[in-house]
Amino acid sequence: MASMQPKIKSKVRCTDGEIGEVAHVIADPLSLEVSHIVVRTNGTERQVPVSSIGAVRDDLVELLCNSSQVAGFPELKREDFLTSKEVEIPHLENRIHVEPGEVLVPFPELEKSCARRSFFTGFIYVIGVLIGLPLVWPVLRFVMKPMYAPYDNRWLKIGNVSKIKAEDVGVQFIFKKSFKDSVLEREEDKNHWVVKATPETLQKIYKNGDLSFYDEKGDVVWVNKQTVPYVAFAGKCPHLGCGYKWRSHKTRGQVFLCPCHLSIYDAAGTVLDGPAPRPLDVLPIKISATGDIEVIDVEYKAGKKEQVRLA
Ligand code: FES
Repeated sequence: MASMQPKIKSKVRCTDGEIGEVAHVIADPLSLEVSHIVVRTNGTERQVPVSSIGAVRDDLVELLCNSSQVAGFPELKREDFLTSKEVEIPHLENRIHVEPGEVLVPFPELEKSCARRSFFTGFIYVIGVLIGLPLVWPVLRFVMKPMYAPYDNRWLKIGNVSKIKAEDVGVQFIFKKSFKDSVLEREEDKNHWVVKATPETLQKIYKNGDLSFYDEKGDVVWVNKQTVPYVAFAGKCPHLGCGYKWRSHKTRGQVFLCPCHLSIYDAAGTVLDGPAPRPLDVLPIKISATGDIEVIDVEYKAGKKEQVRLA
């Protein structure tokens, strides 16, 4: 394929004439390369692999195959894909510029595709290095923090429960948190997810009883009780700290999905699939009489089976 990237709406020409235009571009979330173009032709959308592209010119894509071969390529099933806006794959947008429009990436379907799973396992280290570096930096920073730094047990107001319209649905709360080092004061954008849990989901979360949170001396700072139906999950994936999202999955319904290595969690934070070593981290939560949600922004070490508190 020529180095130029195919553009949406470019004309597509086969060896036997023009057949349509580029409707979408599909990217491989691992290699961050364009894997297919989707050609709109005769009222259908066909997935054409980039290996069939002979040349990409300004507003024209020339294919190496003929129109009947294109008709043999699989039709695009839109529900099998997410847009790159939805999954936020780090660096994808820098690598693939598609104008005007969005890049599609295949919806993860790990449980169905063993070949793909082993592919993931094989490449996880490479990918870890490629996309993990900026992500593990916050973790490294915490590791390098002096050991005697006390935990931050401030209650932070992150929003109001009125934003939550349904049970067992992940709702994201974005807020600003101020930090004070010995030298500077800075502010960081953070996010957590809050679920209004059904009794069944609460049962899963509280299967071992109330959840206690401790300070650095081992004293209890707060206890979450099952009588409170709201549960807050720390916004970072326990695998390597990426931000995850609430998404609908073809076979599993609504789930928390982490785009980095495709860990999948249910509304109780239980790991359904992927490399995550532990469930989503539950935060101490308090709901005021007016419905304000307050949490303690507890952080745990990523990549560990046990929760090791960092901050
Ligand atoms: S950071 Fe690896 S799956 Fe979320």
